[in-house]
Amino acid sequence: MTSPKPYRVLVTGAAGQVGSELVHSANNYRTTFDLHAASRADLDIATADSNTLAQYIQRHDITAVINAAAYTKVDAAEADPEMAYRVNTQAVRNLSQACAATGCALLHYSTDFVFDGQKNTPYTETDPTNPIGVYGKSKYDGEIAALAANPRCVVVRTSWVYSSKGNNFIKTMLRLSAERTHINVVYDQVGSPTYAADLAQASWQILQALLADAQHPAWGKVFHYANQGISSWFDLAYQVVQRSGNACTVTPIETKDYPTPARRPAYSVLATGALRQTFGIDIPYWRDSLMQCLLLLDQK
Ligand SMILES: NC(=O)c1ccc[n+]([C@@H]2O[C@H](COP(=O)([O-])OP(=O)(O)OC[C@H]3O[C@@H](n4cnc5c(N)ncnc54)[C@H](OP(=O)(O)O)[C@@H]3O)[C@@H](O)[C@H]2O)c1
Repeated sequence: MTSPKPYRVLVTGAAGQVGSELVHSANNYRTTFDLHAASRADLDIATADSNTLAQYIQRHDITAVINAAAYTKVDAAEADPEMAYRVNTQAVRNLSQACAATGCALLHYSTDFVFDGQKNTPYTETDPTNPIGVYGKSKYDGEIAALAANPRCVVVRTSWVYSSKGNNFIKTMLRLSAERTHINVVYDQVGSPTYAADLAQASWQILQALLADAQHPAWGKVFHYANQGISSWFDLAYQVVQRSGNACTVTPIETKDYPTPARRPAYSVLATGALRQTFGIDIPYWRDSLMQCLLLLDQK
């Protein structure tokens, strides 16, 4: 008896934080998934129309797409909304249409920035959205576009992503604390830091469950994935700097004293119960995952 053919999965944005971790962890699922990784250099989703994307999908015999490509420069998006919408909305619509036309499933990522941050209890998937910046708006429109174009789509919102690869807050804090004796970090924005490696593992599990069941009730739905627990940016920076051993003090400051082009939600903790229950996935606590990432960075 031969074993079933693995599902061939296209990962777009494969050189990004989540994309790299998907590539790294795909090996754990090699009997189920056959990876086709495409960085922006291999496949620019914003310059291809839906026909070109469909041809690409057919040419590579793809069964499912994980879209880890995005325009993630939150501040730059305020000055260049056209680019943010092109990548985060229009390209997502084209990709989802291409998936629908070729019978492909789509797992697409979105963000905690679809919320305005006015709540003080974790945001569920059914809470009203109200993005307060261009990035959040472009991502929200992308969610709608992805879900509308293809019934075999699932959207996973996440928050405060970091990894040992790419640019992120953790690596910035390590660099700054090595260069300076003192850094100020906001403590009145709280959320859940999310290790891209954990999100990648969960994504493979979600896709596995969905592809095994054409009638799965999660098709067409939005889910939240973030590491468990809550942190402010100050708390996160403090953990990183303290563990680094760098002689640098970290001082909590208020958002009003650190103006940025884009406003950010003051509170963006995502409730993850629906995802945990639907897919039976255990989500690690953020400090535990942070330590995993810092251990890897120690070795670099
Ligand atoms: N980072 C966060 O804190 C965060 C928080 C919440 C949600 N998310 C969401 O999580 C997902 C993954 O984010 P991430 O942290 O992995 O972001 P990332 O590290 O910025 O990776 C995004 C990747 O997409 C690529 N890309 C940009 N435009 C593209 C295009 N037109 N065609 C193909 N690839 C393109 C980027 O390439 P270049 O580097 O060459 O531009 C980059 O490699 C995104 O949907 C993001 O919105 C992220």
